[in-house]
Amino acid sequence: MTATIIDGTAVAEKVRAEVAERVAKRVDSGKSAPLLATVLVGNDRASASYVRSKHKACAEVGIETRGYQLSETATQSEVERLVSELNEAPDVSGILVQLPLPAHLHEHDILDLVSAEKDVDGLHPMNIGLLAMKDREPFHTACTPLGCIRLLEEYGAQIAGSHAVVVGRSNLVGSPVAQLLRNMDATVTVCHTHTQDLAEICRTADILVMAAGVGEMIEGNMVKLDAYVIDVGINDVWVDHPADTLYVSAETGDNFVAHRADESEKGGRRKQGVLQLSTEKAWFKADDAPEISKEDKISLFRKARMAGDVNFESVKHVASHITPVPGGVGPMTIAYLLVNTVNAAEILDAC
Ligand code: GUN
Repeated sequence: MTATIIDGTAVAEKVRAEVAERVAKRVDSGKSAPLLATVLVGNDRASASYVRSKHKACAEVGIETRGYQLSETATQSEVERLVSELNEAPDVSGILVQLPLPAHLHEHDILDLVSAEKDVDGLHPMNIGLLAMKDREPFHTACTPLGCIRLLEEYGAQIAGSHAVVVGRSNLVGSPVAQLLRNMDATVTVCHTHTQDLAEICRTADILVMAAGVGEMIEGNMVKLDAYVIDVGINDVWVDHPADTLYVSAETGDNFVAHRADESEKGGRRKQGVLQLSTEKAWFKADDAPEISKEDKISLFRKARMAGDVNFESVKHVASHITPVPGGVGPMTIAYLLVNTVNAAEILDAC
């Protein structure tokens, strides 16, 4: 028997449909559509792409968006002024400051300034504190942890009374998912880089949530028979390919490292980049890299494969349910951002 694969894409679709219905009802009753304001500072391409995806997902369910893009050199007071304005703006339901921020900015001070009622990321200390308190409820909880719990519920996991092991303790995922599980009456063990006997502890988990950011660190022999395994990790695992497989295995947009057998230089040169097969010639996008053409000798080509923290092929023979990467937890994060934004609009109605 192999594990049931938890279909995050399908559950996220269901969550989005629920949000779309709530938004439509609000608008039909004469209320304004929820509005998400995003703050993006700097030129990080991955962050810009995440923010675009968030705006697109909002549009699909009738949530309005307003994007604020500040330059890489924006000052602390410029960012804080913008957040303060958004806090005061009556039409803004939710505020999302995309992370990471450029290194010169004080992330804590900026996140602390977002009003707890509009904090759709669940990162304000008041929201994290309320989540940790018995018989209290935060205005918002981080999106990925909410998505993990929904997946467990949709696939019939018995949370109350279970032993849940969470590997990772970040503010965005590990800590809040542990709190949510504890609040649902699981007995929770949180593991991290200093944990001894990690394998031993994981083997006792009825529910194992992996948010460690280490590619394929969990093997089948570290998992209890019939456990629910939720894999939050998104990692690059590098796979070596002989150079002559390049054109059959590569796709435009793949990240890779190649080792060029440049006979003019001792040892050749290693270059990292993003494949652009459309132009045939330009294999590299790194700023300082000369283009390497098809005719150059490539002695080693390493292509990144996306993988979770769990070795899926090995663990699927042991677990009862498992999330794949991609297509497991990933789609749930944006779905719950939409949920939090509608919740924020309702919280504001009540103020
Ligand atoms: N960067 C990576 N994940 C997240 C997230 O969930 N929220 C924000 N604001 N930034 C992120």
